[in-house]
Amino acid sequence: MKHLISIDDLSKDEIIGILDKAEDFEDVALGLRSCKILEGKILANLFFEPSTRTRISFETAMKRLGGEVVNVSAQEASSMAKGETLADTVRVISNYCDAIVIRHFLEGAARFAAENSSVPVINAGDGAGQHPTQTLLDLYTIRKECRRLEGLTIALVGDLKYSRTIHSLIKALKLFKNKIYLVSPEILALPEEFLEELDGNAEKAKLEDIIESVDVLYVTRIQKERFLDEEEYRRVAGSYRITPEIVSRMKDGAIILHPLPRVDEIDVRVDSMRQARYFKQAFYGVPVRMAILSEVML
Ligand code: NCD
Repeated sequence: MKHLISIDDLSKDEIIGILDKAEDFEDVALGLRSCKILEGKILANLFFEPSTRTRISFETAMKRLGGEVVNVSAQEASSMAKGETLADTVRVISNYCDAIVIRHFLEGAARFAAENSSVPVINAGDGAGQHPTQTLLDLYTIRKECRRLEGLTIALVGDLKYSRTIHSLIKALKLFKNKIYLVSPEILALPEEFLEELDGNAEKAKLEDIIESVDVLYVTRIQKERFLDEEEYRRVAGSYRITPEIVSRMKDGAIILHPLPRVDEIDVRVDSMRQARYFKQAFYGVPVRMAILSEVML
């Protein structure tokens, strides 16, 4: 069975294969071509944390491919409120559907769900752990907008400690040859284990020193919900912000990505600048998730 729990579950060739497949689905995602290859299939969306893009784009992807979606929302509304375990919930739901997409606040929850499921499980974010489908759409966006996945200078900016999109992206980036800069307040620095994954190919930097050299500026939100200490959050809140002045120093063809939601780390005036690609990136979630769904369900 083909679960997708961590980006490590995929080889470089498999990643490229999914990106190529997503390319073929773009016109279906735009509603320009009909392709009902998932007709008769049911996807269960099991979300224990807030989500807009991930949940809706999975749902849209499934429906555009002719499939159906059941949504199992918040713990309060399901039998988990009566004390049912995640294992039992997954065991039961997996008998109702053909694949499960799960988002959970605990790291490891998706892996645990997969162990208890009779159908493929896709991790849509587990705590500060992994977010492999976001990584695939991030790579897709980079390849579309920069026309390559190697030989780039990529700056990862913001909350490198708790962002699962960063932790997941780093595991994929180690497969491609790029220069990586890590830009964060000290207390949000990338954990040692991920630094090791990058094997000396990443360097801590200050934004003002490198902004002119980057091809991709990947910005993240401070993951407020992951802080154990409110005081620690207050110390870094608002500590970085991408403004039009900063963006105007970027070189030709450079792009800004963000998994979204944005809070205040990118000034809204940047949205209309040519470097801003984060809304396009959110759209690419649909063809990429179509490719993932067809991969695990067919
Ligand atoms: C991200 C997440 O949930 O990790 N959102 C997303 O899926 N696009 C990023 C975030 O919440 O900051």
